[in-house]
Amino acid sequence: MAKDELMKKLEERIRNCKKCPLSALRTNAVPGSGSYDAKVMFVGEAPGYWEDQKGLPFVGRAGKVLDELLSEIGLKREDVYITNIVKCRPPNNRDPNEDEIKACSPYLDRQIDIIRPKIIVPLGRHSMSYILRKFGFEAEPISRIHGKTFEARTLFGKVIIMPMYHPAVALYRPQLKEELRKDFKKLKNVLMNT
Ligand code: URA
Repeated sequence: MAKDELMKKLEERIRNCKKCPLSALRTNAVPGSGSYDAKVMFVGEAPGYWEDQKGLPFVGRAGKVLDELLSEIGLKREDVYITNIVKCRPPNNRDPNEDEIKACSPYLDRQIDIIRPKIIVPLGRHSMSYILRKFGFEAEPISRIHGKTFEARTLFGKVIIMPMYHPAVALYRPQLKEELRKDFKKLKNVLMNT
């Protein structure tokens, strides 16, 4: 089956998923958006209010920051794929819990297998620890490893993992926005050489 068809079917399954209690609270599940041929996949944590309303990832305030960071390195949303570890909004935007991550992460695993990105950028610590562990690395404090690259071998080839701060931090800590800017510049360089 072609990539497009596989992804559309998967997104449909996510929209109808009832594997955890968050499904009962949602307006919309948020499978992800962007190019199925993207070289870069961004993985956030979970949808917030606006994402739940619209069924799209990163369309609230943190999403504006993400758009700005992407445009600073000459990228648009349509050039990348954006998703989250947990596809439904946790109440009051709390962090996703372990059970929710366990129930939902197989969808992310499948998205990675279908899209076969060259670079995965986990945004924030939950996403960072899930992605690093998945590929056999130890999770570390995000303050220590943001912007660093980890190279993993997968069945579909090499993947570079580059954890970054969650864009929401830029809303209340301007110095971390600068760190994000620097990390996006590194991402641009890695992308040009990949
Ligand atoms: N924060 C996230 O981690 N993901 C979204 O989609 C929106 C905000």
